[in-house]
Amino acid sequence: MKPINVGLLGIGTVGGGTYTVLKRNAEEITRRAGRPIRITTVADKNLELARSVAAGDEVKLSDDAFAVVADPEVDIVVELIGGYGIARELVLKAIENGKHVVTANKALLAVHGNEIFAAAQKKGVMVAFEAAVAGGIPIIKALREGLSANRIQWLAGIINGTTNFILSEMRDKGLPFAEVLKEAQALGYAEADPTFDIEGVDAAHKATIMSAIAFGIPMQFDKAYVEGITKLQAVDIAYAEQLGYRIKLLGIARRRDEGVELRVHPTLIPEKRLIANVEGAMNAVLVQGDAVGATLYYGKGAGAEPTASAVIADLVDVTRLHTADPEHRVPHLAFQPDQMQDVAVLPIDEVVTSYYLRLRVEDKPGVLADITRILADSQISIDAMIQKEPAEGEAQTDIIMLTHQTVEKNANAAIAKIEALPVVQGKVTRLRLENL
Ligand code: HSE
Repeated sequence: MKPINVGLLGIGTVGGGTYTVLKRNAEEITRRAGRPIRITTVADKNLELARSVAAGDEVKLSDDAFAVVADPEVDIVVELIGGYGIARELVLKAIENGKHVVTANKALLAVHGNEIFAAAQKKGVMVAFEAAVAGGIPIIKALREGLSANRIQWLAGIINGTTNFILSEMRDKGLPFAEVLKEAQALGYAEADPTFDIEGVDAAHKATIMSAIAFGIPMQFDKAYVEGITKLQAVDIAYAEQLGYRIKLLGIARRRDEGVELRVHPTLIPEKRLIANVEGAMNAVLVQGDAVGATLYYGKGAGAEPTASAVIADLVDVTRLHTADPEHRVPHLAFQPDQMQDVAVLPIDEVVTSYYLRLRVEDKPGVLADITRILADSQISIDAMIQKEPAEGEAQTDIIMLTHQTVEKNANAAIAKIEALPVVQGKVTRLRLENL
């Protein structure tokens, strides 16, 4: 049977993995796809690297990705270059030239997805992106197809392996963030420039994509609330543990009557939840649907072959469906394009969540009463509390409180009043808590 021809843009870690797995499992993949999937061209600035990966194979090598997206022999373009610049131009060009696209580029889709999917829709081509979220975990497939009976209510994911590795190490070893980051870089878990990972941007890209296909809304990355783990202190991880919680960087998308919550931040979660026990560089996504209840997806969120697993699954899907009428294919964003809803993402002030509060206070009568009075006046209910005895020779101590749910602006107002009490030292440390 005539093979389908693939042009591979980028032969770095994921591109190399895709090349290797496609070759190793060619027979099995052909049995699934119905015809061979053949990489005919590889484009990479590093031709030496391309030569070494494709050594001995009949594959065209090029340092000109634009030539590949214009090549009439290429049916599917696999974009593994990353970033929003050249990758956006190449993807749009490939679509314009009538090619189907498979991409792992979460940044591109979260920021320019609306433009890209509109172009693909107009041209009748597929843009598949399983590898863009949580690497090898088939979460896009689950959200787009497996859960399509459900009104999805919320999802919460550990969708950045670098930060999960750092948080796991901080908890295990009681070490500060900066020290663990250095260790993560030495071990190759964190990039030389880890900004997108540790500041929560990478997780926000992925949460944005999942929110679009879970709720049938456009990509709204610019409205997402993004807070990373750089300010997280080991002492809060330890106190959270004493209260029965783990701190994870969660990407959360929740549908409310007023709009959609889309947020990434360090979050306390009860340690008895399965997702709280996802450690090291692993990823997991918890999805709550009205019919199915909670479902949990777990696996490797990065790496050559796990991500290749997702890229190739998309290649198989495109191969099976490329002769189908566009209206008989799964819609790009799960919902029919004319059924997308322009639901607003709520500002962080309007988010409803619970809180962990750590305060440094003077150890004298009435302090706790003053604090709890402010919370009671703000209709914020306390769920749990620890007060430590002051250390030898010290007149101050820590109070740690967990609250029930409240609107964030209400919590902020109460925290400001607590900080203004003369017996409270410095700022209140405030972390969000989700019971999931
Ligand atoms: N940098 C990401 C992570 C992997 O640490 O999970 C690619 O999305």
